[in-house]
Amino acid sequence: MSMFNSPNPETYDLLMARRSVKARDMAGPGPDDKDIKKIVSAACRVPDHGKLAPWRYIVLKGGERETLGRLISEALIMEGQAKEKTADKMAGYATQGPVLVVAVYSPSDKKAIPEWEQQLSMGAVCQNMLIAATALGYASQWLTGWAAFSPTVRQGLKMTSNERIAGLMFFGNHDGDKPLSERERPDTDSKIIWGFPHTG
Ligand SMILES: Cc1cc2nc3c(=O)[nH]c(=O)nc-3n(C[C@H](O)[C@H](O)[C@H](O)COP(=O)(O)O)c2cc1C
Repeated sequence: MSMFNSPNPETYDLLMARRSVKARDMAGPGPDDKDIKKIVSAACRVPDHGKLAPWRYIVLKGGERETLGRLISEALIMEGQAKEKTADKMAGYATQGPVLVVAVYSPSDKKAIPEWEQQLSMGAVCQNMLIAATALGYASQWLTGWAAFSPTVRQGLKMTSNERIAGLMFFGNHDGDKPLSERERPDTDSKIIWGFPHTG
C-alpha cells in the first residue's frame, strides 16, 4: 500500500471535533522542540502553487515571548495607540499561551503566481498547524489582533516590508479543569449550491 492518502476516518473525526482553546486557558509546558517541528513540518506540506513556500515561522518560548510582549507595548505607545496602562496589559498578549509560533506570510514575486493564491496557501499553513497540534494532543489557537498588524511589531521581528503576520499561533496543553463546549457552526446545507447556479 502507498504511504500516501491511506484512508483515516479518525482524521475526519478530528476535523469534526477540533476546537480552539483560548491561549489564556492553556496549561504548560506545551509542545517541546521536537513536537513544534512536527507541527511546522505538517504546515509546510500544504498545497502551494508554484512551489514558492511563501511562509516562515518564528518560534517563541519562555522569555522570548516576553521580549515580544515588550515590543508590543512599546509599539502601542510609539504608534499613539495606547496609554501606559493598556500597553502594560498588552505586554501580556504574547505570554498568554506556553508556546507561540508567529506564522509569517512571505510572498514571492519570482513567478507569475497571483498573490491571492499565496495567501490561500498561507491560510492552509495555519490551519494545518491547528490540525497537527490537535492530532498530537495539544491545545491550539490562531490569533491576530492589533499586534499582528503593527508596523513596529513587524519591524521588531525583522520582517521585511512585504511580509505580514498571518497568525500568532499559540500552543499548549489542555487544562482538564476547563472543558470545551461547541460553538455555533454555520448550517452546511445553507452553504452548498448543488449544481449550476441559476438566477431567479
Ligand atoms: C486569521 C484569523 C485570526 C483570528 N484572530 C483572532 C483573534 O485575534 N481573537 C480571537 O478571539 N479569535 C481569533 N480568531 C478566531 C479563533 O482562531 C477561532 O477560530 C475561534 O475562537 C473559534 O474557535 P474554533 O477554532 O474552535 O472554531 C482568528 C481566526 C483567524 C482565521
